[in-house]
Amino acid sequence: MMRTHYAGALRAEQIGQTVTVCGWVAHRRDHGGVVFIDLRDVEGMVQIVLDPSADGLEAAKRLRPEWVLRVTGAVRARPDGTVNLDLITGEVEIGAVVLEILAEAEPPPFPIDEREGAANVDDNLRLKYRYLDLRRPRMARNLRLRHQMVSAIRRTMDDQGFTEVETPTLTRSTPEGARDFLVPSRLQPHLFYALPQSPQLFKQLLMVAGLDRYYQVARCWRDEDLRADRQLDFTQLDLEMSFVDQDDVMTAVELAVRAGISAVRGVELSEFPRITWDEAMSRFGSDKPDMRFGMELHDVSGVFAATGFNAFKDKAVLAIGVPGRGDASRSQLDGWTDRAKALGAAGLVWMRVRGPVSGDGAPEGSVAGLESPVAKFCSADELAALRGAVGVAEGDLVLVIADADRRKAQQVLGHLRLDLGKPERIDEPLALLWVTDFPLFEAIGADGRPVPAHHPFTQAHEADWDILEADPLAVRSQAYDLVINGIELGSGSVRIHQRERQQRVLSLLGIGPELAQDRFGFLLDAFRYGAPPHAGFAFGIDRLAMVLAGETSLREVIAFPKTQSGGDPLTEAPAAVDAEQLAALSIALRPLKK
Ligand code: AMO
Repeated sequence: MMRTHYAGALRAEQIGQTVTVCGWVAHRRDHGGVVFIDLRDVEGMVQIVLDPSADGLEAAKRLRPEWVLRVTGAVRARPDGTVNLDLITGEVEIGAVVLEILAEAEPPPFPIDEREGAANVDDNLRLKYRYLDLRRPRMARNLRLRHQMVSAIRRTMDDQGFTEVETPTLTRSTPEGARDFLVPSRLQPHLFYALPQSPQLFKQLLMVAGLDRYYQVARCWRDEDLRADRQLDFTQLDLEMSFVDQDDVMTAVELAVRAGISAVRGVELSEFPRITWDEAMSRFGSDKPDMRFGMELHDVSGVFAATGFNAFKDKAVLAIGVPGRGDASRSQLDGWTDRAKALGAAGLVWMRVRGPVSGDGAPEGSVAGLESPVAKFCSADELAALRGAVGVAEGDLVLVIADADRRKAQQVLGHLRLDLGKPERIDEPLALLWVTDFPLFEAIGADGRPVPAHHPFTQAHEADWDILEADPLAVRSQAYDLVINGIELGSGSVRIHQRERQQRVLSLLGIGPELAQDRFGFLLDAFRYGAPPHAGFAFGIDRLAMVLAGETSLREVIAFPKTQSGGDPLTEAPAAVDAEQLAALSIALRPLKK
């Protein structure tokens, strides 16, 4: 070993010891012949002091940021008044006797030290010099956090009797709803592999194989538009179990997620609540509710059942109370109205609770303190009942959306709820929950076919198979999501293990027997040979790490991520390839369309 200790691990206990540390120069300062160096390594930073008599003093004067050093010296307490409480090693320093320069460095294109504004560095520049970006303590911390989280998750899966199996990455298309990345085959020209969008089909085959409990820290690829919580290649904790129901899967997943959280945050979360999709939509206007705050939706249609106000008549009328926002300005209210319209609502009705309300001394049904532009259209009783139903107090604001389409009203109000109530930090506090009983299909597509809400291998509720073709949108599925702070963390389902049922769903989706045989024949064939009832789940490792690191982009927890446009400024991927390579693949490029 070139060193005896990590620089960032030195503490008062080492005072008096002679140590050797290695690392990068974070700063160098000269003070009246004494040279101070802050030396950084993976654990943190320590101060090194070269007195005027030190051997290495001349070398130390040449040092520049990011030079690589090996230093031997005695650990000593910092003199009174120079203890640095901001630094974890701040009680000690190394009085250097030997200083060796292991590598010189050009000035970095951006400061590595966060105190020097590294936070404001352009993202492309950070990714182009990712190896320097990762040298920054924040990024190093994120990568370690991710590792600790994944190790704890793996341990929990192992302890529960799961076997990790690697599935191929050169395979056929998996129907997760995104576009595939294709890889041309040289050995079989004109044919393509697809990179898996998930190991879905293989893990089901492993159940037919009798593996019983499979998991994998699996790389997946999806060619979709990038967002802060989406990357082209990402990692799932993927699992599948046989002879289980959805509760068994949720329990297994929950243990793993709780262990991952506990490993990096030191908190033991209690059991995650479970609500149905329908309840999530009714109470929060979202299938991934952020449960860290209230502001639940209230169905006030009953209040306006006999209203003379046309905008509310015969509509689903839903409302939220916004605590303390009764003083919102007109321009804020106009802004929220525009937002509601952009989301598809006809408009937004607001009501301020200005004066005392019933129960706070005002007479029952008092509307004197209620102010709303629709006061002239609604009766005083209606407004008072609205206030009562939403349960707001003086100083609060009520927002109302009415729409013939209840789901739309829920979704719009769900967005407003987030806009107005979402906590600032992504990671504080932590609120996880299960959402169950998703509909099997989320909509009817342009081709008149239902669109699967999850994927086509999802089992419907036993009672709903009868209405599969007649009323597909009413069919409930045995699918469940895990949500963390309003972000979808993972999805899973009980699978169809009966060949006939699987074919029924595929043909409803417009995938006739021939096409089905062509695309998933291997799965349907496998089901002929004794398929056990099985169910599974996958959650985003990157997403969980992102939230636990308190970051708002997956890029901050992936070592070498892609930019918004899908590029990697470091390797300059994607890149042109040689004509010979294309020829070997029998590929000719057409000119790009202007
Ligand atoms: P699903 O498609 O819902 O389910 O994916 C599961 C989880 O994977 C993560 N994820 C992503 N993370 C980063 N970037 C992306 N582009 C991306 N896409 C998905 C999310 C998501 O919740 N085979 C099924 C699971 C199953 O049924 O067992 C599946 O992949 O956190």
